[in-house]
Amino acid sequence: MSADTAPILTAPLSEATLARFAREVAKYPEGQQQSAVMACLSIVQQEQGWVSPASEQAVADYLGMPAMAVHEVTTFYNMYNQQPVGKYKLSVCTNLPCVLRNGGKALAYLERKLGIAAGETTADGLFTLQQCECLGACADAPVMLVNDRAMCSFMEDDKLDQLVDGLRAAEGGQA
Ligand code: FES
Repeated sequence: MSADTAPILTAPLSEATLARFAREVAKYPEGQQQSAVMACLSIVQQEQGWVSPASEQAVADYLGMPAMAVHEVTTFYNMYNQQPVGKYKLSVCTNLPCVLRNGGKALAYLERKLGIAAGETTADGLFTLQQCECLGACADAPVMLVNDRAMCSFMEDDKLDQLVDGLRAAEGGQA
């Protein structure tokens, strides 16, 4: 059987994970458990760092929905990691308003500084670089997010240096 035709196995979910899922499902009316799909995927990502096909299958089984429907959610939202990522995920907005104000330049600068292309992870596992859609802060362009949480505004070269060098130093590496 080739890898393409191999069935996707279901990742086992711990009791603690199932308890967290149940708390999310309880927020919705009976029979509407599928509404918790985003929350369940977020829980999986918090615990495992990414959402594997096996985890998608497990979430689908838990919520009683097709695995493809879960996969559509995972692939629609930029915040879900579809493969393992570095400790720091740097998401640079490359939508038009940001690109008109150096968003593309910021991405290219990070690619050179980190020695990777967008979509890749540094060999030390510290940084993953990716493009993202509008973050709703166009007036602060160029804009980026660190680990889907920390918004960074006006990211010209000097601020990108400060960010990356600061994170490297915090990890005990050379700036
Ligand atoms: S286009 Fe970049 S934040 Fe809106």
